[in-house]
Amino acid sequence: MTLISLPKVELHLHLEGAAPPAFIRGLAREKNMDIAGIFDADGNYAFTDFWAFLKVYEAATETLKTPEDYQRLTLAVLEESAASGVVYSETFLSPDFCGGRDLVAWREYLHAMQEAADQAERDMGITLRGIITCIRHFGPDKARETAKCAAETAGDWIVGFGIAGDEKVGVPRDFAYAFDVAREAGLRLTAHAGEWGGPESVRGALSALKVERIGHGVRAIEDLALVDELAERGIVLEVCPGSNIALGLYKDWRTHPISELHRRGVKVTISTDDPPFFHTTMGREYDRLNAAFDWDEGFFRDIARTSLDAAFCDADTRARILTRLEATDA
Ligand code: ADE
Ligand code: ZN
Repeated sequence: MTLISLPKVELHLHLEGAAPPAFIRGLAREKNMDIAGIFDADGNYAFTDFWAFLKVYEAATETLKTPEDYQRLTLAVLEESAASGVVYSETFLSPDFCGGRDLVAWREYLHAMQEAADQAERDMGITLRGIITCIRHFGPDKARETAKCAAETAGDWIVGFGIAGDEKVGVPRDFAYAFDVAREAGLRLTAHAGEWGGPESVRGALSALKVERIGHGVRAIEDLALVDELAERGIVLEVCPGSNIALGLYKDWRTHPISELHRRGVKVTISTDDPPFFHTTMGREYDRLNAAFDWDEGFFRDIARTSLDAAFCDADTRARILTRLEATDA
């Protein structure tokens, strides 16, 4: 079996960040919007660093204006994921971008995305679940409103709550109330930390937000006592190596800390974050990790199992996906 056909589980994928540039250009054309400035001469997203990336991301997202746009986006994204062998995916969804945190509008967007997910499950055999995500640089007040949308729509499909955006803005405890609201609604919790912030940011996410997974978390490697704590507590890192390298956090695959974190007993998983922005796919992540660290099929199967164990879905869904992971043919 080749790595591309190995069954994969992805836990960290931003839905808007997974929009292919041609898809966004098509929407812009339909709506007579001029967003040419966010693309380079080859038609790829153009940015120089993380903060420029966030601006381009938000400009691209401006073209997504209706539930139907999100329905089409969800299908396009799941097609790409399924082509890389992904059988289960959790995606970050932001009521900020889907109706401006208005609950009535949010329910319409959510319905549209779930319809697309149902279709993809039937046609492509990929299962999707949603993690509602507040945006750190939009501030704690908006995060609270987002958490209320999350609490109202929590269930079998909306399974988690998280925070993305500029990690340099504010501190985790600013968002503690939003996370309390989400936790009380039964949602499982994750937070972006240890990407643009150091070990203290990871510690803050664990203590103030009480998350069980960390998005990225790779900079924990700068504090080995924290690495030991992550390992002992079984905290799962949603590692996105291609994203980290594309954004200049590490210079290449061999110097990325994922292997060292794993060696020290931390539960690492593999995801793409915003794949077209970083010229990656799950298939490519696997190939690059195989080339950098000689990880083989058995190693990747173990990682997929770790990912499934850490997924926020219900037990029946997990059991169903497990049969896919255990099948010898994807
Ligand atoms: N939103 C989309 N991608 C992100 C990333 N890598 N870090 C923080 N926020 C994000
Ligand atoms: Zn992310």
